[in-house]
Amino acid sequence: MKKILTGLQPTGVITLGNYLGAIKQMVKYQNDFDSYIFIADLHSITVFQDPKTLRENIKSLVAIYLACGIDPDKNTIFIQSENEYHTNISWLLECTAYFGEMSRMTQFKDKSSKNANFSVGLFTYPVLMASDILAYDADLVPVGIDQKQHVEIARDIAIRFNKKYGDTFKVPDVMINDKGTKIMDLVTPTKKMSKSSENPKGVIRLLDEPEVIRKKIMSATTDSESCIKYDMENKPGISNLINIYSSITGLDKEEVIEKFKDSNYGNFKKEVADVVVDELSKIQNRYNEIINSYEIDKILDEGIKKTRDVAKAKYELMKDRMGLGR
Ligand code: AMP
Ligand code: TRP
Repeated sequence: MKKILTGLQPTGVITLGNYLGAIKQMVKYQNDFDSYIFIADLHSITVFQDPKTLRENIKSLVAIYLACGIDPDKNTIFIQSENEYHTNISWLLECTAYFGEMSRMTQFKDKSSKNANFSVGLFTYPVLMASDILAYDADLVPVGIDQKQHVEIARDIAIRFNKKYGDTFKVPDVMINDKGTKIMDLVTPTKKMSKSSENPKGVIRLLDEPEVIRKKIMSATTDSESCIKYDMENKPGISNLINIYSSITGLDKEEVIEKFKDSNYGNFKKEVADVVVDELSKIQNRYNEIINSYEIDKILDEGIKKTRDVAKAKYELMKDRMGLGR
């Protein structure tokens, strides 16, 4: 059975973009793949995290995975930092990755340009991500489009390592959500909907109250025309709402456009709000049931037990191939 693996950072509150871009895909594919889903807490500390909040967010994210339909019987669920072999592997890979290729990573350029001081971890972040993926010989890595470049660099690193030291890693493929969509900010639809956005009105959080979600969608920025057309360049706001509707309902963009061809923006927004509220309310109800359950610890214990052995074996193989130790 092919392996599929992804991780999310436990920072801030998970957004509709994370859900549609990453989690929903994992739910869809969990029946057909050997699935691994983890909490990328080591990635999150590349920028400062308040320790107390981070710890709360980690558990909350596991509950969110479960509430979204990630089935613990079908997935290996674990916390990245509990498996020390990820960081061990990462060092070995850092020594085969090039400074130049890391410097070209868009996310690094973007984040580093915003701060006078940024951590070395922010720079080596894609190598740790490669370790997460390569440790398990993942065949497929479902991520949102913004992480595509990082999966591609993991491929390059794997190919290079295999060439230098002999066949060690499976070369993974990136898997972008069916609709290939990036969910955009509702206020500034030219920018991705992000946990770290300054304006909360543009971001739907998975745990937002239904009324808040409705309000955010109803006041989403749109253009001055009044026709429901997909044109990301000239009509980014309405196109984003089409994407959201399409990702939630599973309808193609064309079907969405056909369905609403006679609607005005107000009616369309209301329908978008209905499907989003409906989907997220179900998730929220389950989340509230799950968050205080002991099952979470049990699931994480099982996850770490399984993944530690696999990652350890890969680390030992790498060391052997590289001539490290005795
Ligand atoms: P992050 O929020 O950077 O931890 O991202 C976690 C996962 O969600 C990654 O696979 C991202 O590509 C995906 N993701 C984050 N924001 C969006 C968005 N606005 N649209 C689609 N996917 C997203
Ligand atoms: N870097 C990813 C993000 O911010 C999270 C992540 C870490 C990840 N390791 C991964 C995603 C491995 C897929 C595979 O979204």
